[in-house]
Amino acid sequence: MSYNTILTEVDDKVAVITLNRPQVLNALNDELMDELGNALLSFDADDKIACIIITGSEKAFAAGADIATMAKYGFNEVYRGDFISRNWEEIRKVRKPVIAAVSGFALGGGCELAMMCDTIMAADNAKFAQPEVKLGIIPGAGGTQRLPRAVSKAKAMDLALTGRMMDAVEAERSGLVARIFPQAELLKEVKVIAKTIAEMPLLTAMMVKEAINTSYETTLSEGIHFERRLFHACFATQDQKEGMAAFLEKRPAKFTNS
Ligand code: HXC
Repeated sequence: MSYNTILTEVDDKVAVITLNRPQVLNALNDELMDELGNALLSFDADDKIACIIITGSEKAFAAGADIATMAKYGFNEVYRGDFISRNWEEIRKVRKPVIAAVSGFALGGGCELAMMCDTIMAADNAKFAQPEVKLGIIPGAGGTQRLPRAVSKAKAMDLALTGRMMDAVEAERSGLVARIFPQAELLKEVKVIAKTIAEMPLLTAMMVKEAINTSYETTLSEGIHFERRLFHACFATQDQKEGMAAFLEKRPAKFTNS
């Protein structure tokens, strides 16, 4: 499959999707979001792939939704056209782990796209912001909901009301980012992480993702109940038998994703 606005690459069991509109710092337009959704769902359906990375350029993961396009919109276009919902949320259907590898700017919709991923790894030059308020809009792809869950209400309010940028160190300290790497090493290091995840039994990794994401959607006791049922289900898999036998026999496990 060839795309105009993204690049795709497969490295062993890891798929890398690179946002590729360098002339506008990977501003996210419909074509890019359609292609990203298509690539994500294709890799999710591909049995050879076990983990997906979304990344951008050294200068920008994505500088936000495409302002040149949005500037022409009125209420009719965005409401009737179901702007954002129509193609930004395909990523939520992906059941395999998705990692955002963020270098440079992750602003507005770029920060929101990173937050839709399961975890965020950042380069030391990463800058995160929700600057929509300066354009007369609010974050519209989940920023007002995911950012406070990630960094606290106080910091989310600070960021979204001032539009200021937060660097990688602050983002890691506040919980938005899992780890920071030197810029030149980012993709190499994230691939190592993705390959580690890809070597885990796939059904179990998918259950980990589903259980943790459920913690954002439900009460503690319902979430624990859901976790417990998935935990019980693990004992119906071959990989649970193999993982535990391998430990007891002091040998590497050979998972079969079954
Ligand atoms: C369209 C964009 C863009 C964007 C940058 N460009 N961001 N085009 N939409 N979001 C374009 C610029 O117009 C410019 O095009 C080229 O990319 C390079 O950008 P410069 O501004 O010249 O680069 P620099 O001086 O290095 O500044 C980088 C920057 C700045 C700080 C990231 O570009 C910036 O502030 N961009 C907008 C950030 C923003 O407000 N994002 C939120 C968007 S709203 P030309 O043709 O001049 O070379 C949003 C809504 C989300 O995301 C809600 C729903 C998803």
